[in-house]
Amino acid sequence: MNHVVGLRCVTCNSEFRPTEIDYTCPRCGPLLGTLDVQYDFSAICKQLTRDSLQRNRNFTHWRYLPLLPIQNVDFVQPLAVGWTPLYHATKLEQEWGLSRLWVKDDTRNPTASYKDRASAVAVVKALEKGVKTVTAASTGNAASSWSAFSRVANLKTIIFVPKNAPRAKVAQVLLYDATVLQVDGTYDDAFDLCCQAAEKWGWYNRSTAINPYLGEGKKTGALEICEQLNWQVPDYVFVPVGDGCILQGIWKGFKEFYELMLIDRLPKMIGVQAEGSSPLVKAWLAGDKQAKPVQANTVADSISVGIPRDQVKALKAVRESGGQFVAVSDEEILVAISTLARKVGLLAEPAGATGLAGLKKLVGMGVCGERDHVAVMVTGHGLKDIDGVMKAVERTPVAVEKSLEDVEEKLAQIGKRKS
Ligand SMILES: Cc1ncc(COP(=O)(O)O)c(C=O)c1O
Ligand SMILES: [Zn+2]
Repeated sequence: MNHVVGLRCVTCNSEFRPTEIDYTCPRCGPLLGTLDVQYDFSAICKQLTRDSLQRNRNFTHWRYLPLLPIQNVDFVQPLAVGWTPLYHATKLEQEWGLSRLWVKDDTRNPTASYKDRASAVAVVKALEKGVKTVTAASTGNAASSWSAFSRVANLKTIIFVPKNAPRAKVAQVLLYDATVLQVDGTYDDAFDLCCQAAEKWGWYNRSTAINPYLGEGKKTGALEICEQLNWQVPDYVFVPVGDGCILQGIWKGFKEFYELMLIDRLPKMIGVQAEGSSPLVKAWLAGDKQAKPVQANTVADSISVGIPRDQVKALKAVRESGGQFVAVSDEEILVAISTLARKVGLLAEPAGATGLAGLKKLVGMGVCGERDHVAVMVTGHGLKDIDGVMKAVERTPVAVEKSLEDVEEKLAQIGKRKS
């Protein structure tokens, strides 16, 4: 069932057996020594074919089981993750002069963000290890996702979030019965503290990037796009980026389907960061191998990251694919929230709409145009950060008395103001 052959360090290429190591390469350290999960493709290609997928009635991301690092399927939790809608956004496609525009709606996961793809895999790894306590540092979405999966799996959960984590995300975590440690500091501070605690007390750590299995769950969005587009691959895939794990995971997914000869070309990966939190944009522009830490500050709390933990893989993904990183302002993100709502019907949190803001920018710059097929990932639901979403709202409710006359008068006033 499990076709994993090893874990390879992205910096020094050392190979490890999965039983030998849980997190990062001891030689290169946690930031540079992230590990890539390696598979036996000759075995997988016998199980995962276009025909087998066509017959497969499992409409969750577990339809790609041969390409996932799962030893014991009994540990898979019953929450339905993945196989999210891929909408053809015809209005925006016409408006922006694109050949095709697809929007992948990952707000439709159990806890309403892309992170469920990773948590679903990580909880199996935790159970396979036989741990009792798990942890994660998170801006909020990974926390709420992890708490749901670990609760269902009966694991004790301790979560580290920054003090500015949105209330709705904290409410989710608390409802799932996890202990929430709200760190007096940034996400980067919460991350370091969580890793220290996990090491000291032996908790299983789902913090992004250092856990090699998270990207495996995150790659499934790419696999779904290939299938949903009947094996046509978009020219560009736009992904909001904080630590870079979603971006690198999606790139890995496309590469693995290419390796399995299920697709015959690869997309260009576009990593979109908020201007106030754009260390990867800066590193990419400078041609640097490593990102310089920044003081992150953006309305998009989920991607407010000073030290991107999956930076090696993320920079590699963009460079290998011939794509680019791009920064968008908070204003552009807020406009993208309302564009997504009004033109596609989706409600996204600021980070969730950041990919679309990046596309608008690259259309304006003439990078993407009439020949291009584009896919945009929408990664988190708007109700998770209502304060953030309210910043994109220009209208206010109109108070009316309980009378039809008053309704008529107020509508007339609105009509006058508009004309
Ligand atoms: C909604 C949303 N979008 C995008 C991201 C960015 O993912 P990554 O940190 O893997 O780059 C996150 C991460 O928290 C998120 O919650
Ligand atoms: Zn190494």
